[in-house]
Amino acid sequence: MGVQLDWENLGFVYRDLPYRFRATWKDGEWHSEGLVQGNQLVISESSSALHYGQQCFEGLKAYRTKTGDLQLFRPDMNSKRLNASASRLLMPEVPQEMFIEACKDVVRANADYVPPYGTGGTLYLRPLLIGVGDMIGVAPATEYIFTVFAMPVGNYFKGGLKPAKFLASFDYDRAAPFGTGAAKVGGNYAASLYPGKVAKGQNYAEVVYLDPATHTKIEEVGAANFFGITKDGTFITPKSPSILPSITKYSLLYLAEHRLGLKAVEGDVFIDELDQFAEAGACGTAAVITPVGAINVRGTEHVFFSETEVGPTIKRLYDELTGIQFGDIEAPEGWIYKV
Ligand code: PLP
Ligand code: COI
Repeated sequence: MGVQLDWENLGFVYRDLPYRFRATWKDGEWHSEGLVQGNQLVISESSSALHYGQQCFEGLKAYRTKTGDLQLFRPDMNSKRLNASASRLLMPEVPQEMFIEACKDVVRANADYVPPYGTGGTLYLRPLLIGVGDMIGVAPATEYIFTVFAMPVGNYFKGGLKPAKFLASFDYDRAAPFGTGAAKVGGNYAASLYPGKVAKGQNYAEVVYLDPATHTKIEEVGAANFFGITKDGTFITPKSPSILPSITKYSLLYLAEHRLGLKAVEGDVFIDELDQFAEAGACGTAAVITPVGAINVRGTEHVFFSETEVGPTIKRLYDELTGIQFGDIEAPEGWIYKV
């Protein structure tokens, strides 16, 4: 490979790679520019994405296997979710074929930046859909840009499979009960910046968000979904209309049941009933699986398996998931897309 980076310590930072995909939507049609160079977008100062948050995005990864092949994990699910987010904000859908081909093209064009197998690094892809054009009224834009760019990344939370500590937030929500929590839209993340800062200021990795209506049930862990393993071996993850439907979470629900033989359910996780869990984790594309070492609930830290070690069930789930993603373990049908 021509590119030399510190592959084992990439962190989660932006890098300006040579190529990205770009397409524009106007007069009811998509016009693809294909791969382009240059990381700047020139858009109208009145773009609806800038003023009214009419934008949505995705996050998925490309993996290098032991034999050097490149592959994507469930990009069809990201395509479906992008379109669900787009519909919620009255934006045009991106055809699934264009979405997946764009992701593959960006991986191929930047192949030198896909980290070597065994370093734990991956190529993170960021599909982005924004409303642009000249318009100032609160209304859907008449023009849109869809772009997919990429960067090599390592761990999102420091330490990889090392447990992290989180702060339950009773004062701030990331989304409203019937708002846009289930859509991957920028406004949810803007709303999370302040509570995230409060948590980090107290040495927590991120916030545990509770259900915005009653603040009694766990919803999400920063930019990741929550799951717990009960003392009798059930995998439980919250079900709620205001959390982002995590593709990693649905994958773990399947793997917990079909590969680990656990009972796996979506249901309520009450913040005052954490004693039922032997282990807990946060899952997402960026977070992969991060063990939840402890949650601060109203000033008292509830410790799960351990504050320093990953528990046995989460370790098995992690090995199964990442084994599939990096091509070492056979994937359920349709999960892997060769690039
Ligand atoms: N929750 C939020 C708020 C997120 O931003 C993400 C990341 O995409 C997730 C959960 C995890 O979703 P996924 O597993 O699809 O990456
Ligand atoms: C992802 O897992 O892709 C995320 O959403 C994380 C991100 C917002 C940094």
